[in-house]
Amino acid sequence: MSPTIRPRRLRQSAPMRRLMAETRIHPAQLVLPMFVAEGLSEPRPIGSMPGQVQHTLDSAAQEVERAIEAGVGGVMLFGVPQEKDAVGSGATDPDGILNRATAFLAERFGDATVVQTDLCLDEFTDHGHCGVLAADGSVDNDATLERYAAMAIAQAEAGSQILGLSGMMDGQIERVRAALDEAGHESTAILAYSAKYATALYGPFREAVDSSLTGDRKTYQQDPANRREGLREALLDIAEGADIVMVKPASLYLDVLADVAAASDVPVWAYQVSGEYAMVEAAAANGWIDRDRMIAESLTSIVRAGADVVLTYWAIEQAQLLGTMGLGAMGGRS
Ligand code: PBG
Repeated sequence: MSPTIRPRRLRQSAPMRRLMAETRIHPAQLVLPMFVAEGLSEPRPIGSMPGQVQHTLDSAAQEVERAIEAGVGGVMLFGVPQEKDAVGSGATDPDGILNRATAFLAERFGDATVVQTDLCLDEFTDHGHCGVLAADGSVDNDATLERYAAMAIAQAEAGSQILGLSGMMDGQIERVRAALDEAGHESTAILAYSAKYATALYGPFREAVDSSLTGDRKTYQQDPANRREGLREALLDIAEGADIVMVKPASLYLDVLADVAAASDVPVWAYQVSGEYAMVEAAAANGWIDRDRMIAESLTSIVRAGADVVLTYWAIEQAQLLGTMGLGAMGGRS
């Protein structure tokens, strides 16, 4: 007997597929992570992330301009300091590279885009951990909260509009919110990297920020085995006052992302991290995979799973492509 119900009817041509696409991506949904390094005279390519660089202040400004022209929703800044110490002094110093870059870029572009900053100590500590250490070498949660509070004020004063708390310390959202409010920065928003997993996918990023870490982050970042815990972390952060919650990495954690998207009453973002980027670029460079289709499919999948916004190193390129194709064509494209 021939079927009466034929889902293939809606797939029969490219225009039909475009019309039926359930997921569309707009350039404003993409946020570009950027690395700004101290002491460079010109941008330095990051070997593990082909196409990405450590920026000087000037090249960062040019890149932000390109992002704005392409329609990208915002930029997320990371600092790469020359000097590090046990408490990450560079993170709270107004002259530290991240705060300087933030002030420089926010002053120029703060009306045209959303300048955001990574709030974590790992780029600034000589041991490479996201927090300060106790005498026994463990990461001291509550002492770290005080450093985050000071860092938050420094970043807000530099002009960051959204602080991305990526350190996975318990109580960090509540502590930073209180510090911001006390200092009169009640308009500065908090993006909580709520469900952040201890993943091999951060590997290429370690080169991007000249990380000093020797061990791992498994006592604070989450175990990849845990799905329910990802939702718990997000709900806790919402209760503590997070304005936005995030799941990170994205592609291997779409189940967690879907759970958080279903439960959250604040925006839900996802971070397509360095390893997700590097794997596609490496396979494509070898001619093993169709780069453009992979990028489109990966972003479509992350949005389909529930992300309102995606942090991606491909933000400018994809926004440009979406602009030339007509907004929202990506769903039909992949
Ligand atoms: C911590 C931080 C990391 C990333 C973003 N923020 C590194 C880590 O937690 O080990 C990784 C981003 C990426 O891999 O693209 N400051």
